[in-house]
Amino acid sequence: MSVHLNVRKVTTHVLHEMKLKKEKISMLTAYDYSMAKLIDQAGIDVILVGDSASNVMAGYDSTLPITLDAMIYHASSVVRAVKRALVVVDLPFGSYQGNSKSALESAIRIMKETGAHAIKMEGGSEILESVKRVLSAGIPVMGHLGLTPQSIHKFGTYVVRAKDEEEAKKLIEDAYLLEKTGCFAIVLEKIPSKLAAKVSEELLIPIIGIGAGAQVDGQVLVIHDMLGITQEFSPRFLRRYHNLSSEIRGAVENYISDVKSVSFPTDKESY
Ligand code: KIV
Repeated sequence: MSVHLNVRKVTTHVLHEMKLKKEKISMLTAYDYSMAKLIDQAGIDVILVGDSASNVMAGYDSTLPITLDAMIYHASSVVRAVKRALVVVDLPFGSYQGNSKSALESAIRIMKETGAHAIKMEGGSEILESVKRVLSAGIPVMGHLGLTPQSIHKFGTYVVRAKDEEEAKKLIEDAYLLEKTGCFAIVLEKIPSKLAAKVSEELLIPIIGIGAGAQVDGQVLVIHDMLGITQEFSPRFLRRYHNLSSEIRGAVENYISDVKSVSFPTDKESY
């Protein structure tokens, strides 16, 4: 029987077992109770309360503005819904880069006030002290390398990262560093498939890709993108499994028309 079907509760240990048994890990974002309940019931392995909430929930054009308080609000809503999946929460921009003490304080607030199981931080050697300090408090850490959206103003663009040799070398070094420090998994975003495959092959911890090809240990997508709720964002790596935006618009148009024509509510729908 596969690990995935056997477990009642996904833990970081289960994810390692899945990697050992070459069983792919499924991961999606969620930011609210109702959506988290649906994707947990569907059997997702990991739910990421991503700082992409800044874009898809709050309407900002980057992940930078979202606050720690807002992440705690989203994460606690998600945790209340989830019975099986491992819940990982992004430390938002500005809550951990300053120094390792503020990183630890932010991570502790997330764990204490939301009941989540792990946190995620973007970056490699630059944030190593923060990663170490959070881990020292017994908080599991997921790394995130490649395109790290919190550094968008440094990159200047959302193009594929680590295409040149120097950046690819640094990414591999950072991945080893994060593994050695004790991260339980790493997200690799928007990098060449060959490079992601090499990292996944060489490291013992699970590597979860987004725009990193198929030769990694699992995949993650933003739920609003894969359900087709967002329309303007269409990178090559995104597979849309539904066109919910047109379904929702259609349903709302029907409702408006029924209200205007007084065909809703009927006698049966009234007291
Ligand atoms: O915030 C987010 O949704 C993420 C994923 C894209 C990995 O970090």
